[in-house]
This record gives sequence, structure tokens and C-alpha cells, in this order.
Amino acid sequence: MADYQYILVEREERVGIITLNRPKELNALNNQLVSELADALESFDRDSTIGCIVVTGAGEKAFAAGADIKEMADKSPIEMMEGNFRSWERIKRTRTPVIAAVGGYALGGGCELAMHFDMIVASENARFGQPEIALGIIPGAGGTQRLARVLGKYRTMEMVLTGAHISAQEMAQHGLVNRVVPKGEHLKAALELAHKVAEQAPVAARLAKESVLAAFETSLEEGLEIERKNFFLLFSTEDMREGTRAFVEKRKAQFQGR
Ligand code: CAA
Repeated sequence: MADYQYILVEREERVGIITLNRPKELNALNNQLVSELADALESFDRDSTIGCIVVTGAGEKAFAAGADIKEMADKSPIEMMEGNFRSWERIKRTRTPVIAAVGGYALGGGCELAMHFDMIVASENARFGQPEIALGIIPGAGGTQRLARVLGKYRTMEMVLTGAHISAQEMAQHGLVNRVVPKGEHLKAALELAHKVAEQAPVAARLAKESVLAAFETSLEEGLEIERKNFFLLFSTEDMREGTRAFVEKRKAQFQGR
């Protein structure tokens, strides 16, 4: 595996694990960390033996407390544009399903990072928020858009205009968190979920992800068309023949990822 300064990368069978690793700075997302994260996600994406990825934060206090404010403080608009924003685009393009395992703070870019992923497992001490307003800015990595699509206009307005921290339990009630687990068990619970995803036929999992994401970016008619094309495309895979045959023969399917 490549040498990274601000993240740890490992694997557990078919699951890739990436840990944001600046615990003293509450895993604040500096340019290099975000770029390393994008590299690691791309590298897992290219590995056909990886069926799901879990991203978590080192230490008990935070998933990530947002963009690195100290790095950002003196930047010009052009420097910001040329900085890590390309890396965020690369993170968004990950085709393998990704689960955020959130313990402690997921604030600003940390909340936005969790929302780039496909499921969120949080410990009961997790706190979500978009506190950028207190710095005289607004969320810049999708916070206003992704929160509004899940929480609706009014709750999003309150979060973005006040910077309030919201508990994992409340986020789960509003549909932004898949499950809340006891403090310290978020990684274990996320890994359990990830192993279930990684057992599935990999091409089907990727096309399922692409199809669900289309619901947020297209009209219903276009989304239905994308789903239908992906559904038909899967009839070209050996895994589809294996999956249907295994059902008929009453045995567990052995998927090959093709
Ligand atoms: N950037 C840089 N350093 C950060 C940081 C951040 N986002 N968040 C925390 N740190 C650093 C602190 O400066 C501190 O370092 P020192 O020990 O060197 O002083 C260390 O991490 C520990 O933090 P605190 O002492 O503040 O810990 P706390 O428990 O008292 O408070 C907290 C925790 C409420 C999360 C508080 O640290 C905080 O409010 N952090 C900033 C959160 C924030 O505003 N995030 C949004 C950033 S902007 C953004 O993300 C833009 C975008 O959309 C991409």
C-alpha cells in the first residue's frame, strides 16, 4: 500500500478501511489529507477484490472537525479553488460503496465528507453540524445541497444559519444516519455492514449505487432510465447467471465480480 502522511489504509478481507489520522487536530481536513483520501479511494476502486470501503476518524473525539481552518485562514479565492476542491470531486466519483463510521464531531467539511458516502454509522456521542457561519463563510463541499435533500429546507436552514451541532440520534430520526451504536462501537458496526455489502456481486453493488445516486441528480424519468439500463446491463454478467442458478440449486452464490 502507498505511503500516506495523514491517513491510514488497511483491509479486512474484501473491505477497505481508511482512517483520517490527525487526531490531535480532530482530523481537520487539510489539502494533503483530502488529496490522500481521494488517492486511497481511487486505489480501492481499482482493486476488484474490494467490495466496500469504510472511512473513519482516528481518536475518540472526531470523525473530522472540518476543513483545516489554520490552513484556510489566509487563502485567496483562487488558492481555494486550486486547492483541495478537485480532490472532493474525485472522492464523489468513487464507484465502490463507502460507509462513514462516525464517532465524535463531524463538523463542516467533516459532515460534508460523511454525506459524500453512501451510508453513515454513528456512535451515540457523534455530533453533526455546519458551523461555517461562525467563521464568516458557508459550507463549500456540498453541505447546503446534500443536507437540504435529506433534511428538507427548514432544518437545513437552521443548521446552516446557526451552526448548531445535532446529535446522532436526531440525525437518525431525520434519515441522515443509518444506525446509532454505543460510544466507541461505530467502526465495528460499520465493518459488519461493510462485510454484508462486500459479499454481494460487486458489479451489481456498483450499479446499484450509481442508480440510487441518480435519484438525487436527475428527474424521475431520467433516473428510471438509468436504473433500467443498469438492470439490463447486469444480465451480461457471469455473476447474474451464478446468482440466479444458485437460487434454483438452493446454494450460496459464489460471485466473481464479472
Ligand atoms: N481546523 C484546524 N484545527 C482544528 C479544527 C479545524 N477545523 N478543529 C479543531 N482543531 C484543532 C484546534 O485548533 C486544537 O488545536 P490546538 O490544540 O493546537 O489548539 C485541537 O484541534 C483541539 O480542538 P479544541 O481545543 O478546539 O477542542 P474542543 O473539544 O474544545 O472543541 C470543536 C472541539 C467544537 C470541534 C472545536 O475544535 C471546533 O469548533 N472546531 C472547528 C469546527 C469548524 O468550524 N469546522 C468548520 C471548518 S470550515 C469548513 O469545513 C469549510 C468547508 O465546508 C469545506
